[in-house]
Amino acid sequence: MTEITLNDSAIHCGKGAFEKYAPRLTDRQLFIVTDKNVFGLYRHLLWQTFGGSVAIKILPAGETSKTQRYLFEILEEMAEAGMERGCRVIAFGGGVVGDIAGLAAALYMRGVHLVQIPTTLLAQVDSSVGGKTAIDFKRVKNLIGTFYQPEEVIVDPMFLKTLPKREIRCGLGEIIKYGALNKEIYEKLLKNSDKLNNFDFLEEISADCIRHKAEIVSGDERDLYGLRKTLNLGHTTGHAFELYYGRKSHGEFVLIGTYYEMYIARAIGLGGGAYYDNLISLIKTVIKNIPAYENIENAVNFAMHDKKNTGKKISVIVPVSEGVCTEILLEPDEYSALLIECRDMLL
Ligand code: NAD
Ligand code: GLY
Repeated sequence: MTEITLNDSAIHCGKGAFEKYAPRLTDRQLFIVTDKNVFGLYRHLLWQTFGGSVAIKILPAGETSKTQRYLFEILEEMAEAGMERGCRVIAFGGGVVGDIAGLAAALYMRGVHLVQIPTTLLAQVDSSVGGKTAIDFKRVKNLIGTFYQPEEVIVDPMFLKTLPKREIRCGLGEIIKYGALNKEIYEKLLKNSDKLNNFDFLEEISADCIRHKAEIVSGDERDLYGLRKTLNLGHTTGHAFELYYGRKSHGEFVLIGTYYEMYIARAIGLGGGAYYDNLISLIKTVIKNIPAYENIENAVNFAMHDKKNTGKKISVIVPVSEGVCTEILLEPDEYSALLIECRDMLL
């Protein structure tokens, strides 16, 4: 088991983490938030661990639940269940559950205890750690949210056994992103590129990614100084493609975005060489064929609304060399022309 601390949060990672730490959570009044799929798979484990009469809110699965409606349903049910100031919200599920349950915990009685128990690979390596909570609003992702740190995060790889392959690929997207940010993770991924679907390896590399994220977040918890922004490597273009083209998972889009952004970096004289070839081969272990999108210039409109942007320029975080990344700011026309160039090269 690996123990990581992020300010006042304790992050327990590894096999057996749930069995060891979850039963200790019953020392407070509990309110569990989960989704329909996760509840279907783990309801007996939840009842066995927290008791058959524990208060549970079961959301429909997927991003469409990260809304005002479900946030207020959670708050309403917490009030109806008589949750008091000392209560604890447990977010048991993927990033959707983690984000909305975290926001509910931050709002209820101006803030109650929160524990994240992530059950997807993406939530384990990224979203459950660092305290970002949110709902989508007015068709903008994560428009309403807070920074609200969980007191504990319980990361147990046993939950990955029931995860569909697509969701594993989604988490791998974020893991490879950490490889582009951190030299040790990069080297470990290269050395073990044939083990990306091996659960023991995923357990080890997840702890490395969480350690990296915890370090970054402790230096820039509120995303104010440019350090936390680096965690969005690959996300400007990835997110724009996700919004415009859809159909793949978020993590796959992060990898596709990273590929296009590395092309941009190389075109303006940053990065390249064996380092880039290696990163591309890692990306291609998850995404065999990088899509050559039609009408790619239309995705630029989505990139123009990225929260990282400064003025009218598009912000892109790119890897430069092992463990080093930088932010580049591009005029929309320049960004669009470079995306088209990269796409044409893929045809
Ligand atoms: P998700 O929560 O929708 O989960 C993906 C799917 O997997 C769902 O259908 C869910 O029911 C299912 N699932 C969950 N655990 C399972 C298990 N153990 N076995 C089988 N099925 C399981 O999506 P996600 O990819 O986990 O998270 C995406 C969300 O995370 C987005 O809303 C994104 O904005 C957010 N996010 C937040 C942060 C942050 O820092 N707060 C960072 C990255 C992403
Ligand atoms: N996932 C980006 C962040 O937590 O800042």
